[in-house]
Amino acid sequence: MNRELIAIVDSGGGRNQLLARRVREMGVFCRLFPGGISLKELEQLRPKGVIVTGHQEKRQAERFLQLGVPLLDFNLSVNTPEGLDAVRRFLFERCGAKGDWDMASFAAMLTESLKEKLSGKRALCALSGGVDSAVCAILAHKACGEGLTCLFVDHGLLRKGEAQQVMRVFREQRGMNVIKVDAADRFLEKLKGVADPEQKRKVIGAEFIRVFEEEAKKIGEVDFLVQGTIYPDVLESGLGAPAVKSHHNVGGLPSVIRFKEIIEPLRELFKDEVRKVGLELGLPESIVMRQPFPGPGLGVRVIGEVTREKLDVLREADFIFRDEIAKSGLSDKIWQYFAILSSERTVGVRDGGRAYGYTVALRAVSSTDGMSANWVKIPYEVLERASDRITAEIECVNRVVYDITKKPPATIEWE
Ligand code: XMP
Repeated sequence: MNRELIAIVDSGGGRNQLLARRVREMGVFCRLFPGGISLKELEQLRPKGVIVTGHQEKRQAERFLQLGVPLLDFNLSVNTPEGLDAVRRFLFERCGAKGDWDMASFAAMLTESLKEKLSGKRALCALSGGVDSAVCAILAHKACGEGLTCLFVDHGLLRKGEAQQVMRVFREQRGMNVIKVDAADRFLEKLKGVADPEQKRKVIGAEFIRVFEEEAKKIGEVDFLVQGTIYPDVLESGLGAPAVKSHHNVGGLPSVIRFKEIIEPLRELFKDEVRKVGLELGLPESIVMRQPFPGPGLGVRVIGEVTREKLDVLREADFIFRDEIAKSGLSDKIWQYFAILSSERTVGVRDGGRAYGYTVALRAVSSTDGMSANWVKIPYEVLERASDRITAEIECVNRVVYDITKKPPATIEWE
């Protein structure tokens, strides 16, 4: 295994991850370290070179001179050709890096280091069906096998066929120990009469933690809690920017589970890197390449109060839209696409008589990180087929609209 390491020491400034990403793209493994890392700690890692970034790079760099390896205080933007060139020269000319590191070796290295920690121990992993927790669970399973328990809470707000797919891939195909908790009724009960988007998010998040806590209690104390936190999550929670929406993910879980240590094997990775690790580990594309899906699920795509009937309508409409996108070969070209069930009913005509039915909105956006987005100019024929099918196959829907708003000022999800 290639252990050629470049250490990036971050002394503030927020440029470090992008730099790390560029270094890895050049085939050289690097890791990020906080500005406070001691000379001794760094020495033990035997890096081929050290890059110091941020506001205090000069002072920091001097501290590491004694390491005797190439040291570059780096302050250029890695989005410019000059910046990239400077990184390249540092890696290959000054440090003599080979540039033969890739995701396959990274996946192998992650697995090996997890094995050292988890082998023979008990671990718990929350499985949501999303990419991050899926990759995390597979890694943990490779490392501790039978010792790993995965908890999958089906809150009834998932897309059509999603829960079945999770169980098929992880329990049936991989033989993993997955406990599926059918909690749809509980969530629906809690959501009764709740129409405000933030309130809905809070209710779903709180109930999720409650269900998880009950199940975790049955499992008892574990040695490790394995979490699929990835770098953007770390960034988001650390920025302290005012929240537009209260995001729900598994971040609130540690306080309700009895464990000795938390492990976040993906915390240094970007989403596309997590996907590559997933593919290296043999996860199917249907899981690894899936589009982002919000933690509160269809709960924030049924506008207003969530009911079982509305969820069923939305699930079907969403399935038809996704099916038409897939048939037109656009699936891997669109960042995120889904249906929304608006709270408005409008008048239509069905079988020669008056109909008063639901309005479904379709949304498809391009984005790189979800922070900003543009709507996708889907061919009219695809929209037409989706609309025709939705209104033909779901009797209570008599109107379909397409959302042509950018983020900002809109957000990607409607709630
Ligand atoms: P918005 O609607 O804020 O969404 O423009 C940006 C991206 O985040 C996803 N999203 C969520 N993801 N938990 C998540 O893990 C959430 O609560 C949540 N809310 C929105 C959304 O689907 C889009 O990709």
